[in-house]
Amino acid sequence: MKKENNFDNKIEEIIKCLTLEEKIGMIHGAGLFRTEGVKRLGIKPLKMSDGPMGVRNEFPDNSWVPYGYSDDYVSYLPCNTALASTWNRELAYKEGYVLGNEARGRGKDIILAPGINIIRSPLGGRNFEYMSEDPYLTKEMAVPYIKGVQENDVAVCVKHFAVNNQETERLNVDVVVSDRALREIYFLAFEAAVKEGNAYSIMTAYNKIWDQYCAHNPKLLQEILRDEWGFDGVVISDWSGIHDTKEAAEAGMDIEMSVTYNFDEYFFANPMIHAVEKGIVKEEVIDDKIRNILRLMYRINMFSENRKKGAYNSYENREKTLEIARESIILLKNEENVLPLKEKEIKTIAVIGENADIRHSAGGGSAEIKALYEITPLLGLKMKLGGNTEVKYAKGYTHNEEEREEVLKEAIDIAKKSDAVIFVGGLKHTKEDFELYQNALESTKKEEQLINIDSEGNDKTDMSLPYKQDEVIKELLKVNENTVVVISTGSPVDMSSFADNAKAIIQTSYNGMEGGTALAEVIFGDVNPSGKLPVTIPVKLEDSPAHCLGEFPGKEKVRYDEDIFVGYRYFSTYDVEPLFAFGHGLSYTTFKYNDLKVEVNELEDDVNIKVSLKLTNTGEVSGSEVVQVYINDEKSSVKRPNIELKGFEKIHLEPKETKIVNINLNKNDFAFYNEDKNAWTLESGKFNILVGSSSDNILLKESINLEKDYKF
Ligand code: BGC
Repeated sequence: MKKENNFDNKIEEIIKCLTLEEKIGMIHGAGLFRTEGVKRLGIKPLKMSDGPMGVRNEFPDNSWVPYGYSDDYVSYLPCNTALASTWNRELAYKEGYVLGNEARGRGKDIILAPGINIIRSPLGGRNFEYMSEDPYLTKEMAVPYIKGVQENDVAVCVKHFAVNNQETERLNVDVVVSDRALREIYFLAFEAAVKEGNAYSIMTAYNKIWDQYCAHNPKLLQEILRDEWGFDGVVISDWSGIHDTKEAAEAGMDIEMSVTYNFDEYFFANPMIHAVEKGIVKEEVIDDKIRNILRLMYRINMFSENRKKGAYNSYENREKTLEIARESIILLKNEENVLPLKEKEIKTIAVIGENADIRHSAGGGSAEIKALYEITPLLGLKMKLGGNTEVKYAKGYTHNEEEREEVLKEAIDIAKKSDAVIFVGGLKHTKEDFELYQNALESTKKEEQLINIDSEGNDKTDMSLPYKQDEVIKELLKVNENTVVVISTGSPVDMSSFADNAKAIIQTSYNGMEGGTALAEVIFGDVNPSGKLPVTIPVKLEDSPAHCLGEFPGKEKVRYDEDIFVGYRYFSTYDVEPLFAFGHGLSYTTFKYNDLKVEVNELEDDVNIKVSLKLTNTGEVSGSEVVQVYINDEKSSVKRPNIELKGFEKIHLEPKETKIVNINLNKNDFAFYNEDKNAWTLESGKFNILVGSSSDNILLKESINLEKDYKF
């Protein structure tokens, strides 16, 4: 980690000048999203705001009802699953840059993002705020994202450390998981966020691990985060995640934030003053926290006159959100080249599905924002097609049981009379949906309970599309077999009822303010899709490892018995065929993979492996392909996944163009976490290097031998 020493002396000087009360003011919320400053010493309060899809609306210090002013509209960014679907590190940097730029523009110091927990189950309520089931993809996107944010003199707050992989009982559940799974799956991106991303702050998760709240956990916060990874930034609690003054103080927690307004009574407020005065907590422990906080303040130039001022709602920021949205759209299926639709051949088009006409930005929980605007799919399509094509819209489905038949009938009538049909369905997370969901939980009718939403605070009950969308799709396909099915969700949903019959299927997510523009551009071929799945879409829920090997959601405890076999690691090792595999995503062109070369150069303390191949665009239009490199260990003393992603590059090619793709691997890419030694281990022997366009479409293979025993 980059160390800046030039302000260490200044920090010590300031600590000497601070009274205990002043120090305490700096380590707990004095408003819902700020700490107290020390005016006489020029120390400002630390101002925070949620992400990750933009900078959240402005709240008074002591109310969860936002001000409702007109000055906190912001750019609405694609959610993290959408971002991860781009498999494009540059776009991750841009997303971070926009978020940091807008946070600074809104006068913030810390943006509570990115969320980088692993997507363990399709049912996780906050999956849309997280990136992937794969730790390598998550880390590769998180690191440039963090740099992009912090470039703007704003700190990230990487969340939620650790194993916050479900919303059910999130405040108390105790996660039982092996050290190996922690190291190989759940910690990896956090470790990279610290060591490679130089994240200035980190948020603890609500849940417990090793029988203890994350916020009180010296093993997690001191031994691993600080001593082992070298983190010298600020640890912030999730809001109301602290339960004890001394335990949290001594575990390495720096700032307590909470959801209630009794700021002076927070564990790190008056109770902390008393604890210090009575000698229960040493003042040096508080000084360490102040040191971390001041270090963060220096890092984001809070004491400098030249601090960057940021900007929000700039045209540049909006353009970047569009760029990201374009690459995040995933073409799952395109039989008979139904897509792209040809504008000239279409006079009337039916757009069916409530999701076509829904704005998502103001929902989801703490990720809600006030978007300057949000182009829905319907708006995007109309803007694209203009006045010569008739676009007819019908809801197709509704939560209102009594209206269901009528709404469906209207949709079918429109579809019958149209040259093309686009269905836009999926999940939602508006405030109204949340209320419906809450009511549904209390309902005794099974059918009414199935209101799945993508939202903080709850997990989904199953993978089904709510409001009988399956039936709508089935009926539409009867009327028009070329119906384009667009599923917009932050999590995999059950597509098995239409995956065979629908010829064209698109997966998108909450794609930001320009999401509708990007979707219309993809559907009509102005943009060639290049997104790839960051998660596996299983045929059915029971095929997911957390549900068939481990537990989800558990009760007081949840056991991760699937261990390291998360996502495709499970599907590929246990021969379970997914509906759509991790890494899958089609293009309007075709690519040929050729000439794989693998050069091994064993050095003193590491190994340098150069993987290269030729990639050719063999189709008629330009496009981008994500070349994926997986490794497989032929023989190992522990059971290892059949394949593990260790490299990828996104390559743009004009028609008939060929490029050489280079991807480097090193010793870390071949190691596993050895629980007997509590260390990473590379066992010498034969490894296979597998290159493909998805986890289930390996096109080139080469074997290598690694001879040496490497130290880690
Ligand atoms: C969420 C955090 C969020 C915080 C502040 C909590 O409920 O878990 O992700 O940053 O609230 O809004």
